[in-house]
Amino acid sequence: MDLMQRLDETLRAMRERVAVRPQIGVILGSGLSTLAERIEKPCFLPYGELPNMKRSTAPGHEGRFVLGPLAGVPVVCMQGRLHRYEGHSMEEIAFPVRLMRQMGIKTLILTNAAGGINEGFRPGDIMLLRDHINLMGANPLIGPNEEALGERFFDMSRAYPEALRNTAKRCAQELDIPLKEGVYLATSGPNFETPAEIRMMRSLGADAVGMSTVPEVLAAAHMGLPVLAFSLISNLAAGMKNEVLSGEDVIRVGLSRAEALSALVSAVIARI
Ligand code: HPA
Repeated sequence: MDLMQRLDETLRAMRERVAVRPQIGVILGSGLSTLAERIEKPCFLPYGELPNMKRSTAPGHEGRFVLGPLAGVPVVCMQGRLHRYEGHSMEEIAFPVRLMRQMGIKTLILTNAAGGINEGFRPGDIMLLRDHINLMGANPLIGPNEEALGERFFDMSRAYPEALRNTAKRCAQELDIPLKEGVYLATSGPNFETPAEIRMMRSLGADAVGMSTVPEVLAAAHMGLPVLAFSLISNLAAGMKNEVLSGEDVIRVGLSRAEALSALVSAVIARI
C-alpha cells in the first residue's frame, strides 16, 4: 500500500471510532502528557489499535491519541510520541503528523524536553522554538515525494511562523510564565551528548538540544502546516554543570513544570 492509501486506511479506522473533527494537533513530550487531562470528555485511541501506526516505547509516553475539546477547541493530542532512537524510521515518525493533517488540523503544537545549551537558561525554563538545526542524520522526506502532501523542495524559513510565536508570547505574559526563545538542535539520541558536542552545538547557534520534534516539524512544513513548539529545559546540557545526566531527571523536571506548560498551551489553543 502506498502512503496515501495507508493514511486513508488509518483515517477511516479513527473515524469509525470517534466523531471529533480536530482543528489543532498537539504532540506531547517526555513527562509533559498532563495537557491531555484538560480535554473534556476525552476519546482515547491507543496507537496499537490503529492500522499502520507504530507504538511508543519511551518512558513517560503513553502511546495513544486523545481527542476532544480543549479550551473549547476540538483537538487531537498525541500522548506519547515516536522517537528515532526507538528504532522508528523518520517516515514512521512523520506518519501521525500526516494523519492529523488528513483529520483536518490547521496548526500543530509540539512540546519536548531538552537540555539547555544557552548559558542564560535554567532547568524548568520554557523555550519557544524560533528555528531548529537538524543533526539527526536523517530526514522523513527522503524517498519518493508525495505530491498530494507537498512539493519536493520546500521552504523552512517560516516553519515556526512569527504570528503564532507572538500569540504564545502574549499568552505567557498574561499567565505570568517566563518564556525564553531560541534554536532547538535535534540529535538521534539515545545517549546524551558529550561535553565537546555541546560546545560545538553552542558555537553552531543552538540554545537547546533534544531527540525529537524535528522529524514532525519537517513533515508539517512539507504540507504547509504551521507549527508552534516549546521545549521544557529539563537540565543544563552535558559538561555545563558537574552532574550526571539521567532520563529520570528529565521526566521529573517535566512533571514539575507540566502544569505551567499545559496552562500556556491551553491558553494558546483558545487564542488561535
Ligand atoms: N540532551 C538531549 N536530549 C535531552 C536532554 C539533553 O541534555 N535533556 C532532555 N532531553
